[in-house]
Amino acid sequence: MTMAALLVEARRLCSVAGLSPEVCTDSLLEAAVSRRGKALELQPEAFLSRLRDDTSEQRELVEELLVRESWFWRDVRPFEWFSGWLREQGWPARGTLRVLSAPCANGEEAYSIVLAALRIGVKASAIHVDGLDLSLRGLGLARAARYSPRALRALPDELKSRYFVGLPDGGFQLDQACQSAVRFQCANLAEAGRVARGAPYDAIFCRNLLIYLDAPTRSRLLAEILQGLTPDGALILGHAEASLAQSLPLSPVKDGACFAFLRQAPAGVAGPIRPAPVRAAGGPLRRAGLPVRPRSAAGVASSLRQAGASEAQALADAGRYREALELAESLRVLQPGVAEHEYLVGLLHSALGHPAEARRAYQRALYLEPSHGPSREQLSLLLEADGDTARAARMRQGLRDREDIR
Ligand SMILES: C[S@@+](CC[C@H](N)C(=O)[O-])C[C@H]1O[C@@H](n2cnc3c(N)ncnc32)[C@H](O)[C@@H]1O
Repeated sequence: MTMAALLVEARRLCSVAGLSPEVCTDSLLEAAVSRRGKALELQPEAFLSRLRDDTSEQRELVEELLVRESWFWRDVRPFEWFSGWLREQGWPARGTLRVLSAPCANGEEAYSIVLAALRIGVKASAIHVDGLDLSLRGLGLARAARYSPRALRALPDELKSRYFVGLPDGGFQLDQACQSAVRFQCANLAEAGRVARGAPYDAIFCRNLLIYLDAPTRSRLLAEILQGLTPDGALILGHAEASLAQSLPLSPVKDGACFAFLRQAPAGVAGPIRPAPVRAAGGPLRRAGLPVRPRSAAGVASSLRQAGASEAQALADAGRYREALELAESLRVLQPGVAEHEYLVGLLHSALGHPAEARRAYQRALYLEPSHGPSREQLSLLLEADGDTARAARMRQGLRDREDIR
């Protein structure tokens, strides 16, 4: 009874942060509530009244639910692309560069943006990055700017040796000038107007948050981000979020693993290039780009399937799509006839920019499970990308041609 009341309260807090109920499952909420109760040494009844009355405890509970996993130069390609794009856009000569990192977690992304700009010769004093996040714990770490070797694992050596100093405990301290280029602020991005406050931005990094948010919050935030870009600005999303930008008036950058979108079509391109769509909801990659959280036993079909899918997800997190694909392929061989495995294979082909293979995988998933919604949606996106809007629309409505299911 008390646990049910605690879950109601926890769910209310999640909705304030715009977090989707699909992400904040009962088992996650229960685990978070138990951790906090234990930390305070309170019985459920006492913890419930504390939670209802004490806003700082409400915040602590939300902190338990936030996933702050991040690292420098995450996925590599987005930052490599960003450096090249800045140069093409005329930096360093263009003056002050303004970029938003939202969410910024523990600062790794915001500082990576600074390093990407320094690398092409923009002076630290000409870089202004706003780092926004809901997590006070994350922002504290961001301001301290001390990181473990693990957080720097993907950073090019040249940047690591130039801008970090080794500490006696084995950690690394970021250079002061880099730190000064970032302004960290606590912000609930589910609240309207947070992006607008610092806009306009030359680029906005919004990676690995949208997949956590409920649909209305996600749409509103994306609209606000669009408004917050300069006319020739760039939006950089996480790899599981690229399909979410398809409805926006943006041109995807033709670069398999970077998932950047431009307000203006790149030179020589007549219309928007469709990205290889990556489905954000419904399948094992739904939380791609995020650490694997424990799920209830009821939430998974079998432990083998969960382990394999989680490992594929972890590989995808690290941008190792080919290895993730190999694993996903072996899963479908080990456990044939599972639509979800075919779907996973399709997602990874999409991420690798292989639309024909992706399409075949989604078709196999629909053959196995005609009501498999995520595959139907992916397939309709691919049909749309091919200009076959009529079939895409039919596919979306749940109607299928013989051709679509093989
Ligand atoms: C997985 S991290 C992503 C960090 C970074 N962008 C990256 O891709 O590495 C997700 C972050 O979203 C933040 N977050 C979740 N809900 C939020 C909200 N409503 N407003 C602001 N930040 C939020 C969490 O605190 C967490 O730090």
